Amino acid sequence: MSGISSQQLRAIASEFGTPAYVYDAALIRARFRALADACGDDPHALHYAIKANATLAIVRLMRECGARADANSGGEIEVALCAGFAPAEIVFTGVGKSAAELRRAVSLGVKAINAESPGEVERIAAIARDLGTVARVAIRINPDVDAESHPHISTGLSTNKFGMSIDAARAMARDIGRHPSLHIVGLHVHIGSQITKTAPLARAAETLSGLALSLMADGVPLEHLDVGGGLGIAYQPGQVVVSPEEYAAAILPAVRRTGLTLLLEPGRWIVGPAGLLLTSVVDLKAQPVDPVSNETRWFVIADAGMTDLLRPALYGAWHEIAAVSPRPGADILCDVVGPVCETTDTLGSGRRLPPVDVGDLLVVRDAGAYGSVMASNYNRRPIAAEVLVDDGAWRLIRRRQTVEELLQWDV
Ligand code: LLP
Repeated sequence: MSGISSQQLRAIASEFGTPAYVYDAALIRARFRALADACGDDPHALHYAIKANATLAIVRLMRECGARADANSGGEIEVALCAGFAPAEIVFTGVGKSAAELRRAVSLGVKAINAESPGEVERIAAIARDLGTVARVAIRINPDVDAESHPHISTGLSTNKFGMSIDAARAMARDIGRHPSLHIVGLHVHIGSQITKTAPLARAAETLSGLALSLMADGVPLEHLDVGGGLGIAYQPGQVVVSPEEYAAAILPAVRRTGLTLLLEPGRWIVGPAGLLLTSVVDLKAQPVDPVSNETRWFVIADAGMTDLLRPALYGAWHEIAAVSPRPGADILCDVVGPVCETTDTLGSGRRLPPVDVGDLLVVRDAGAYGSVMASNYNRRPIAAEVLVDDGAWRLIRRRQTVEELLQWDV
């Protein structure tokens, strides 16, 4: 949990307004280190999944920590470059890469383009031929493994749109050898996100390693095995998750058998718990008396909603909500909702909070990953400010959008 104090949060709210994302730099550094340390002396590289939080200052912080980058779009490649990553430190993943994105990645000479289909491999080969270069390609396999996470963020089943079957990948790997403009450098897998069990992660790593061993026996030269991201965090108090050590123990044995370098693409685990969404209460409204507890249930209406943090509305995700300066008195039963014109615009339902009043500050915790990156301008709502707290001080790292700025896009 972030170590940002209530006093700091009050000062940040009065300086920059709400809603605002607030991140704890020290916690981001500590979590990166914990994950890196868990990999020990085995050759490895942590490619931070930019999609989890693409705010430039956060991506720069990850680079300062010693991370490399995992980009999932042309936009994320540009963010990585802007944050100071060299092309050779960037892996590029993503279903449905456009011709322009592939051309950019090939011309930059990124460390690996994780190819998702036989057709994409052909397109990369053609672009590299055209540019007179050799593209570094890894094959993303679909291991048909159930990550046992939320179905919306599980990606490793054969019915999911991601990667290639083992048979297709085997054929493809041999084929790549025949393309003078392609160099196969690795195999890739990513079975999903917010994974809280080791078994699916171990199974995916085993599948990857088995394929690598058989390809290497056939003379296909490989450099790395990229097992993707996916390590889950505890959103609910007491929720059982996988520790970095358990994670490493689940995947390292399979990778070791190949002698190849391990690549990881962690996102959520590093930045998720290090960010919170700071919001103000804008209204309170009584609901009918709760039939179970026989008490008045309230709507606590916040100035942050699904346009700021989409996860509860999109996945039914649970984020802890707390008052910044709890008032004395008996708890209330409430639904914390946003201002957007949708009933799904609920940050948390059936919560217990200390008595609250209009103007009070609330925090929505564990919002550092897949928070600001999934914000939208629905209802013409400007995107929130972002603040980084470091060593007792804080600074604005993304300014709040204004409605005037939004209107400038209309022609
Ligand atoms: N690598 C690839 C290829 C990915 O697709 C992802 C996440 C990651 C790495 C990073 O995964 P992580 O370590 O963060 O779990 N919006 C959803 C999460 C979507 C994840 C998409 N891919 C959410 O809010 O839960």
